[in-house]
Amino acid sequence: MATLGLETHVVDKDAYRSTVARFRDAGIALPTFAQLRDPETIPAAVRARLADVGPDEPHPLNLFRVHWFNDADRRGTVAVPGYLVLPPELTGVKAKILVALGERFPMITAHKVLAAYGCLAPRLVTGQFDPAAHKALWPSTGNYCRGGVAISRIMGCRGVAILPEGMSQERFDWLERWVADQDDVVRTHGTESNVKEIYDKCAELDAISENIIFNQFSEFGNHLVHATVTGPALGRVFEDAAEKHPGLRLRAFTSATGSAGAIAAGDHLKSVYGAKIVAVEALECPTLLENGYGEHNIQGIGDKHVPYIHNAMNTDAVCGISDTATDTLSLLFNSDIGQSYLRNRRGVDPHVVEQLGSLGFSAICNVLAAIRAARHYGYGEGDAIVTVATDGFAMYRSEVPKITAKYFGGSFDAVHAGEVFGQHVLGNEAARFEELDQAGRRRIFNLGYFTWVEQQGVAFEDFVARQQESFWRGLRSLIPAWDAMIDELNRETGVLAALGVPADGV
Ligand SMILES: Cc1ncc(COP(=O)(O)O)c(C=O)c1O
Repeated sequence: MATLGLETHVVDKDAYRSTVARFRDAGIALPTFAQLRDPETIPAAVRARLADVGPDEPHPLNLFRVHWFNDADRRGTVAVPGYLVLPPELTGVKAKILVALGERFPMITAHKVLAAYGCLAPRLVTGQFDPAAHKALWPSTGNYCRGGVAISRIMGCRGVAILPEGMSQERFDWLERWVADQDDVVRTHGTESNVKEIYDKCAELDAISENIIFNQFSEFGNHLVHATVTGPALGRVFEDAAEKHPGLRLRAFTSATGSAGAIAAGDHLKSVYGAKIVAVEALECPTLLENGYGEHNIQGIGDKHVPYIHNAMNTDAVCGISDTATDTLSLLFNSDIGQSYLRNRRGVDPHVVEQLGSLGFSAICNVLAAIRAARHYGYGEGDAIVTVATDGFAMYRSEVPKITAKYFGGSFDAVHAGEVFGQHVLGNEAARFEELDQAGRRRIFNLGYFTWVEQQGVAFEDFVARQQESFWRGLRSLIPAWDAMIDELNRETGVLAALGVPADGV
């Protein structure tokens, strides 16, 4: 098993020097993690130049947009990340459900480009990836690999997407446009939960020395970028809501886990606000709930294993949501019939209805888990649950005919709209919720042994070290070390200086 991205010194000086040269020539500067956490600290000269760069261009400056604070047109920044407040008319519960919008991220309209950057940046500054010599391999179920391919293209290196063939057509369409060579889209067998097949393909490709695999399931950069960038961004969302509703308490964070990157934001929200961390998975593939397996359509989550970077011992509950609920609610939220039902029969604010297209399948799943958590714990008006919409429904429009045929005989009508809402929102029927005690947490932690120690060759001592909270806290010290190395790399390339950024970086 490759090292897990924990180095804080230059491992290979030649690779590092080559990266500096490539970045100097291509005008690439790297943002620090601190700047992504707080984009107001991005140098004014960079922000001024960004005004001329489209958010979906493969432009080096778009790395400075890989954060939660992009405004609605994704060109400027805002003081509070874009978020929706879902009202009781839509959720059936009084607690405030706050959903941060991943579709405002650049290039891929999903927050997974942040995970890709979090895995890549430490490798670049430590000389473990040389864009002039290596190919970057991005194993994923479709969004992370798009983020990786986008950043690879900016760096002028080959980026290879490895994903199951059954993922949404929109992902493949995007990839076709962005890869340097169509062979750089590697389709593995199966759908959402066939991650083992992705690992097997990676093992095969790892034998080629020019390939560097950025394994989001085990790279601590993925955990850390969410713990230190997404966590505070969601904290800002909550505080904004609390300013409008004095006395509001942040009770829980729900996050459907794929690589278990985003759920790391919960580590921050728990330590600062005492929020419970609720891991969410597809009921059809109940790995965390009952060591189970199965197929489902909540694309991006639930991979029949416990990722190495999942801080399982800090997880407070597991919620299972059926893909029948996410599939059918996606029709409710994105059809004229469904939207008019929500406005006219349920009295949902039209402005909220308009924005429901910002919720992709896993976002709807996160919202349903928040509703379930509110019911389970009895949260009321003064309580908030925060969650994320990793991507929006634009990534899934090609699924509409399949869902309509599968559940509604080819046409979705007003009666269906009422049924779907009654069943999956008001009834929240196909949802399971389990609070975890220590034995429950250990059950999840222990399941990871088979993937990581037995299959992937992680040392037993390294595996068990992750049982201690002190291990995860200790990881945080990597961030300032990496930021200092990012600053140094930028100094050596001179790219920021050429843009007019003064030496103190402001
Ligand atoms: C649409 C979608 N939702 C949720 C997730 C899960 O996020 P994470 O991998 O950070 O656990 C992913 C991951 O790729 C995703 O693409």
